[in-house]
Amino acid sequence: MSFPVKIVVVYHSGYGHTAKVAEAVAAGARQVEGASVRLLTADEAPQHWDVLDDADAIIMGGPTYMGSLSAPFKAFMDATSNLQYGEKRWAGKLAAGFTNGASRGGDKQTSLIQLMTFAAQHQMHWVNLGLNYGNNRSTTTEDILNRDAYTLGVASQANMDESGETAPPAGDIRTAEYLGRRVVQVAQELGAGRAALGRQTPAGVGGGSENQDPEGRGLRRELKASVA
Ligand SMILES: Cc1cc2nc3c(=O)[nH]c(=O)nc-3n(C[C@H](O)[C@H](O)[C@H](O)COP(=O)(O)O)c2cc1C
Repeated sequence: MSFPVKIVVVYHSGYGHTAKVAEAVAAGARQVEGASVRLLTADEAPQHWDVLDDADAIIMGGPTYMGSLSAPFKAFMDATSNLQYGEKRWAGKLAAGFTNGASRGGDKQTSLIQLMTFAAQHQMHWVNLGLNYGNNRSTTTEDILNRDAYTLGVASQANMDESGETAPPAGDIRTAEYLGRRVVQVAQELGAGRAALGRQTPAGVGGGSENQDPEGRGLRRELKASVA
């Protein structure tokens, strides 16, 4: 049974490699019936908050530069601090992520953790890659899914002397497609589950610390009166 879900892929790419990964994530998502998929660059995203706020899942990615996400992608993250974070507009949505580096290791894990932390700040649910480590046997090849062996998301690798036309290679592109499909499937399961239970997407817990302690047990005495 198909279930309609809205997926947005937000990415930055300085030299075209991560753009290829983002397009593959979107292509994978489109393979699942019921998914409507929008691709936005980190620069475009602030002009389309309505699209992001309306999504069931936001899949985010940028290149790893100097051991963390690129500055333009970080600018997008910071731009969410006002309305999206402040009003918890993304609470209860799904999040997943990808990064691309020139190296197999290349500190790409830091970028995935950065994305996962960002999703948690927004009270989103992180969808991991859902694959085992890739190319770690004498019987496996570079063409395998998840060849660089990450679990939090896609961590692809593009040789720095090749353009986005040829790098990252096909196995990494297929890994990105796999993540796109997986996020749609989880979004459908979550959406159908909420519908079956008659539950709305949770509003999220925002505001000051008193909002997450309605009984006032963790508040100073002088503040207890104001929440009573
Ligand atoms: C300023 C800068 C810093 C970089 N730092 C890293 C790094 O820490 N780890 C890594 O694996 N690659 C690093 N790279 C290589 C890029 O991640 C790699 O070329 C990637 O494919 C670029 O993606 P893009 O074409 O989407 O911008 C760096 C590149 C630049 C320009």
